[in-house]
Amino acid sequence: MDHKKTRKEAGYTKTQALSEKDDFTDENLSERFVFRNILPEEADQAARIEEICFPPNEACSERMMRERVAKAPEMFLVAVDRQSGKIAGFLNGLPTDECIFRDAFFTDAELYAPEGKNVMLLGLDVLPEYRGQGLAREIMFRYLRRERERGRESVILTCLDSKVKMYEKMGFQDRGMAQSSWGGEQWHEMNCVLEV
Ligand SMILES: CC(C)(COP(=O)(O)OP(=O)(O)OC[C@H]1O[C@@H](n2cnc3c(N)ncnc32)[C@H](O)[C@@H]1OP(=O)(O)O)[C@@H](O)C(=O)NCCC(=O)NCCS
Repeated sequence: MDHKKTRKEAGYTKTQALSEKDDFTDENLSERFVFRNILPEEADQAARIEEICFPPNEACSERMMRERVAKAPEMFLVAVDRQSGKIAGFLNGLPTDECIFRDAFFTDAELYAPEGKNVMLLGLDVLPEYRGQGLAREIMFRYLRRERERGRESVILTCLDSKVKMYEKMGFQDRGMAQSSWGGEQWHEMNCVLEV
């Protein structure tokens, strides 16, 4: 039996079950938030949220955030609070044909390959006052569905030990320790298969 293929198919099935269900979208969250691409003028807002959500050694710099937004706004999914008009949380990534995460994706927006088969996720942020309500999960499921509709094969991320279970619940599989040493930390690489 082809072990690798079986693993890949298992991942695909799990993600499908999670995010293709008609009712996976949380109606309550859809009423409170608009989910869309980021706008050019929201780059500074995203950078400030990143500063709140991550320690300085892990956060994306303001300059890098501006570059990412300018280069690939369609690779951001922001949740905007309908009442305040402000971003409550967002997810962003970079498409590529590469299959293994490397830290250059965090710092070099030139690696952007619009038709790339995979997406390297660069950050999932929810402001503290919006946490614990399923917003990160909603953003992730919408993102995965959108990327599958765009024909991507898989979505890859790195995370600390403490977040492995969270991403498993969102359909990702732990591939062990990553090559990344971003922020001087040790990271797991996780993969979500969208296409077999
Ligand atoms: C991590 C973060 C995005 C979660 O946002 P959130 O909107 O509160 O998450 P959700 O409410 O959608 O939770 C989804 C699931 O993940 C779990 N989870 C949420 N935050 C978690 C955390 N900090 N550690 C471990 N698991 C967590 C929840 O328990 C939930 O599981 P459940 O369905 O069994 O209840 C948010 O706390 C954040 O922005 N933190 C700082 C930045 C960060 O760490 N980002 C992730 C980097 S890898």
